[in-house]
Amino acid sequence: MRPRMPLTRFRQAGRIRGRSRVHVLAIFLTGVAAMGAACYPKPVDPVGVPSAPTPFVRLPYVQHVTDSSAAALWMSQPGSADTAWYRVPDLDSTWTRVPVTDHRGEAKKATLAPLPPLTVAEYLVSASGVRAGPHRIRTAPLPGAESEPVRVLLFGDSGWGGAGQVDLARQMERQDWDLSIHVGDIAYNDGARDEFTERHLRVYARTFASTPFYPSVGNHDVRADAGRSYDEAFLWPEPFPGARYFSFRWGRILFVSLDTSSHTEDVEGLRSGKGRQLEWLQSLLADAAADSAVDWIITFQHHPLYSHAIGISGHDLDQKLRANLLPIFERYGVDLVTAGHDHHYEREWPIREGRRVPDGCGPVHVLSGGGGASRYARDITNTVLLATAQRAYQFVELEIGSDRIRARVIGRDGAVLDEFAVAPYDGTASGLADRCAR
Ligand SMILES: [Fe+2]
Repeated sequence: MRPRMPLTRFRQAGRIRGRSRVHVLAIFLTGVAAMGAACYPKPVDPVGVPSAPTPFVRLPYVQHVTDSSAAALWMSQPGSADTAWYRVPDLDSTWTRVPVTDHRGEAKKATLAPLPPLTVAEYLVSASGVRAGPHRIRTAPLPGAESEPVRVLLFGDSGWGGAGQVDLARQMERQDWDLSIHVGDIAYNDGARDEFTERHLRVYARTFASTPFYPSVGNHDVRADAGRSYDEAFLWPEPFPGARYFSFRWGRILFVSLDTSSHTEDVEGLRSGKGRQLEWLQSLLADAAADSAVDWIITFQHHPLYSHAIGISGHDLDQKLRANLLPIFERYGVDLVTAGHDHHYEREWPIREGRRVPDGCGPVHVLSGGGGASRYARDITNTVLLATAQRAYQFVELEIGSDRIRARVIGRDGAVLDEFAVAPYDGTASGLADRCAR
């Protein structure tokens, strides 16, 4: 790799030359304090977003949609009498009542099933006579089935409650999505219950009423109560009880969410090169690579394997994570690797074995960390691997077709900040080295 060439510098070395060490230390501590204040805002209220109507604490939102079922989660005040209903308008206009069960903590859940694949259904929830809905959802295609291009909302580092996050949320509402994936740090600052309620579920209530949301867990999401509020807020297809990593199929796409943030042996194993999450990932991707019904593999996780952020507010790359995950992703043909953690947007050219390669010869890495949290001062360097980088509030829309993933990066005012396409990459293809040699 070519040496990193700073595009901008947070502070030129010459500007502190000649100052005493005490003076430099004071500047450093002042900067850290200022950054900390910017990172951890006091108000929880998101700007101009209405609260859930009493007795709802959280309005209903869709989770874990498959080709035959969907789940609605919500939260209501203690003592509320809650009911849930659904129907498939094209088949029967009659509403069917489904059981309301406890999810985790104080969250309620209703499972909408059975449902046919690729079908529009409606659901509504009533809490002591206050109705939410009906909302329309659409089930997933069968695994391996062809479908129209799949539209995916990708974002991260969002749960802040500020104007940037709210502006993006309004932009997200202007589009129809099949599903949404998040690269972590969903609720700042500690992943507490009221932060998930006010800074995430309240802000995206209109989108998430109809669009299933699949999370990956960030470091801020597990600060409070070891992540119990995160577990309470979401429902995912757990391969093992209590694991926060998972995969799911959507037609001919395999989505894989990794946990790089929890304080568990499974997560530590990603760094030590062993353990249950790593074994699960290898087995999952090996099977997918051999499955002709899987066209695309998309991963999402919090900590990036490539980031060009540096400086006083940059996060160092986790080299052990990178050393253990990159070879697996490249061997088994992961097409798109997404992450967050650093609060900017960047996209790499296709990379294999540390080098830029032609389209279709290695995974494309995208860092989408501009979801609305602080954009504190940051330097971005340049290398031959970097296609583009921007300090901006943003989310990514993916349109996943049979031959290409087409992507656009949208800013808080709706402007298109970047556009790119991902060609399919098959890490096990014969002749790959010859075809992809530059
Ligand atoms: Fe983070």
